[in-house]
Amino acid sequence: MKSNENATIHWLGVTSLVTLLLVAPMAIANDIERAVDYRQGVMNIFSWNMKAMGSMVKGEVPFDQKAFALHASDLAGTATLNLLPGFPEDSESDESDALPEIWMEFDDFEEKYQNLGRLTKALSEVAASGDKTALSKALEKTGKACKACHKKYKN
Ligand code: HEC
Repeated sequence: MKSNENATIHWLGVTSLVTLLLVAPMAIANDIERAVDYRQGVMNIFSWNMKAMGSMVKGEVPFDQKAFALHASDLAGTATLNLLPGFPEDSESDESDALPEIWMEFDDFEEKYQNLGRLTKALSEVAASGDKTALSKALEKTGKACKACHKKYKN
């Protein structure tokens, strides 16, 4: 083999190594970004439905039992999503408000998410019944479950 061929092969090796070193962290950053987008998207669905129900309970918009029940059932359905893969270990980023405590106390974080699932299911059941006092209470409890998690795990 001529020495310049050798040099080419060597150069190709170096180039692929450099490419790998550059691309691998970018791929990881991209995975984190996608996870952040996913979990924030789910959170925004929560918030959309909570706000709509909250404004009815507060009387900012007229109470509409059917619309309320639909929001409650969408919220409960969303809270059955397996959200935890959207929080891969140490997936902090500039775009994210997630605190590192999530990965230090992941069992508790998971429990808080499951609690939200139970409460939104209960909310959806009373919303279908149309009992306004009961659904206001259930909505308030749900809001507390959002806040309990944010207080500990969100910036
Ligand atoms: C198990 C914990 C947990 C529960 C329960 C929870 N959240 Fe969150 N929420 C978070 C975390 C963590 C973030 C920050 C995510 C990020 O920025 O990466 C967040 C972010 C948000 C955001 C900001 C999204 C964005 O685009 O930056 C909104 C809005 C939100 N949550 C609404 C809600 C509502 C409404 C509920 C209740 C129905 C709720 N969350 C329940 C943990 C939780």
